[in-house]
Amino acid sequence: MTPFGERLAAVAAAVEAELAALLPPVEGPQARLHEAMRYAVLGGGKRLRAFLVVATAELLGTSGRAPVRGGAAIELVHAYSLVHDDLLAMDDALMRRGRPSCHHAFGEATAILVGDALQPLAFELLARPDYGADAEQRCRLIAGLAAAAGSLGMCGGQLLGLVAEKQRWPRADISAMPRLKTGAPLRCACTAGAILGRASAAEAAQLAAYADELGLAFQIRDDLLDRGGEGVATGKDSGRDGAVGKATFVGVLGETGAGEALEELRQRAVGRLDIFGHRATVLVELFEFAIRRLS
Ligand code: IPE
Ligand code: IPE
Ligand code: MG
Ligand code: MG
Ligand code: MG
Repeated sequence: MTPFGERLAAVAAAVEAELAALLPPVEGPQARLHEAMRYAVLGGGKRLRAFLVVATAELLGTSGRAPVRGGAAIELVHAYSLVHDDLLAMDDALMRRGRPSCHHAFGEATAILVGDALQPLAFELLARPDYGADAEQRCRLIAGLAAAAGSLGMCGGQLLGLVAEKQRWPRADISAMPRLKTGAPLRCACTAGAILGRASAAEAAQLAAYADELGLAFQIRDDLLDRGGEGVATGKDSGRDGAVGKATFVGVLGETGAGEALEELRQRAVGRLDIFGHRATVLVELFEFAIRRLS
């Protein structure tokens, strides 16, 4: 494993442990809901959003429990978004993270409730005073995650995706949907790291700009992976984007155009990190991982 891969695995393990400890145990009259919540969150996922919080805070000189908690909260919202994204009314997906999607394992009604319950849990975990963030930092983390998840962020992007399935997608608008549905949570993760690392306004702006390039690139790579190919192992349904005429960046630009866009975004993202010098190497590596990943 490369040093970057080892770092990613170590952060993922810390976040997994935090999530396992904070999710409700499988007991009580709602045991089945708790079981489904743990199924949707634990034991899978690259934990890239959490890694982004930890890596960003670290480059600003902050480590320890707070970035792990911040990352865990964002992973809860991410897991909820995947559970709802897989529902029949959305992408109608059978598989997620190498096993049946939540609604296939637990039924549609329970899967809806899993999303409904994971989302407030994320905010509760950010509000608690037990992880080394002060009151102002906790408020800013909560406000940032709320904005990123809502109608002007991830949910709004999901809606744009549904609308774009039914009508021709204007080329001029192709980046708006992925920038919201995927970009907003990634930007939120980077900004959370900036809040916990007490970044200056100038540093926070550069980090957010980096995350914007990363968000679009991440979704373009996701769309490319949906087409399959050598070594691709996403653990989720594939080939469906094209089959149902889903609006994707790759569908509009083609695979070559998408590859060129990824390289352009990479160069822009690296430029955003100039002010941090060698301290930002991990974020450069994260970008490269995001656009070359096979899962
Ligand atoms: C999948 O995200 C959904 C998108 C925003 C494209 P990830 O590829 O980060 O999913 P996990 O968390 O690793 O399963
Ligand atoms: C969904 O994008 C992004 C979310 C906000 C969940 P996709 O529909 O392409 O994600 P996958 O491919 O199912 O993970
Ligand atoms: Mg979708
Ligand atoms: Mg989907
Ligand atoms: Mg996809």
